[in-house]
Formats: sequence, structure tokens, C-alpha cells
Amino acid sequence: MSRGRLITLEGSEGVGKSTNLDVICEFLEEKRIRFTVTREPGGTEIAERIRELLLSETTEIMDGLTELLLMFAARNQHLTRKILPELDQGLWVVSDRFTDASYAYQAFGRSIAIEKVDTLRRLVQEGFNPDLTLLLDVEPDVSRGRISDRELDRIEKENLEFYQRVRAGYLDLAEKLERIKLIDASKNLEYVGSEIRRHMSEFIFSLNNDSAIADR
Ligand SMILES: Nc1ncnc2c1ncn2[C@@H]1O[C@H](COP(=O)(O)OP(=O)(O)OP(=O)(O)O)[C@@H](O)[C@H]1O
Ligand SMILES: [Mg+2]
Repeated sequence: MSRGRLITLEGSEGVGKSTNLDVICEFLEEKRIRFTVTREPGGTEIAERIRELLLSETTEIMDGLTELLLMFAARNQHLTRKILPELDQGLWVVSDRFTDASYAYQAFGRSIAIEKVDTLRRLVQEGFNPDLTLLLDVEPDVSRGRISDRELDRIEKENLEFYQRVRAGYLDLAEKLERIKLIDASKNLEYVGSEIRRHMSEFIFSLNNDSAIADR
């Protein structure tokens, strides 16, 4: 049995990550690939507790570096207790956000030095990275309009300039990293879904390794 693959979905609030998770799941089911779905911050009991701390309102302002360290504390727990063991069992893992979000939100959004994110990534991931990342990109005023009826969490309450920096951070990563596939998510759901399926097909084709697909 071969090791599973990690597929991550990225993009800021309201771009359509949760909506399009279904497209990925359907695609993997069609290909008879066994998978689990998870999210960040979170994914395990302890990491979900850290998520609550990260997203809940506090009277004290959370320092940006504290936020970054908590993100990586949750990620370490998620990786060691869930993602890596599942990949070892041959399962594919689909995660709603992963480390690219720390570059976009904490480095670009909160102006923390990229080197600090690099250092924590190396410490926690030891060279491990997602195999494929689908980045949904939309102008922040459009994506925020899509979630205007929702109760916003601590990070979602940031202003438009913050979200413009987050978007620029994601686009910067997409330019540098081949594994990140940029999708114009301002278009309709049918278009976004077809782009996701196209990238997933190309990814599976590129693996060129039938044994990567575990039997059901
Ligand atoms: N391409 C699209 N066109 C129009 N509406 C969309 C599109 N994608 C998503 N939506 C709608 O936008 C809203 C937000 O989508 P969704 O919850 O999937 O975003 P998200 O990226 O998961 O947000 P969050 O980061 O807050 O979890 C939903 O009501 C969804 O139906
Ligand atoms: Mg969501």
C-alpha cells in the first residue's frame, strides 16, 4: 500500500472553500480513492481547542507572533496525531487550509517576518508539504459580501486592507510554488468546480503511479 497525499484548499473567507470541498470529495469517490477531510486551525481535539482560542473574542489584543505560534502549535498536533498517521495508512487527506494560510494571514496580513514563518514551518513540518493546493482567489470585497449574513469571528472582523494583504500573500505564494493551482473563484460555481476537477485530474495523472490509489 502506498502513502496517501495531502490536498489543501486555500483562500480567504467566503471564497468558497467549504462549498468546493464537496467537489473534491466527489472526485476522489469517483476515483475510488480513500480519503478523510479535515481543517485548520483544528482537526484534532487539542487543535480544535487552540482554534477556539484563536477565533474567539478576547478583551486583550492577541499579539501577531502569539497568533502565529498558536497556529503552528495546532498544526503540529494536527500533523502528528492525524495527518501523518492517516497518510501512512494510505488515506488521502483533504484539508480546508494549511500552512500557506500562515504566510498569507500572519506574514502578509499581520506583517510578521516571513523568515519566522519559514522557521516554524521547518521546525514543525521537517520538509513535509502538501502535494497539491487549490487556491481560490476572489477580490476581498466580493468574497466578504458572500458571508455578510454570517457572524464573524475574531480574524474575520479584520478590515478590507488586511484582506487585501492576505490575498496578495496568497498570490505571491502561487507565483512561487508549482504545487499551488490558482483558480478564479469570482466566477460561478460551475466554473470553479470544473477547474478543481481539471487540476485534480492532472494531479492524479502526474502521479503516474497506480499503486498510489489504494483499493477500497
Ligand atoms: N463561485 C461562487 N459564486 C457565488 N457564490 C459562491 C461561490 N462560491 C461560494 N459561494 C457562496 O459564498 C458563500 C461562502 O462560501 P463558503 O462558505 O464555501 O466559503 P469559505 O471559503 O468556506 O469561507 P470561510 O473561510 O469563512 O469558511 C456561500 O454562501 C457560498 O454558497
Ligand atoms: Mg469554510
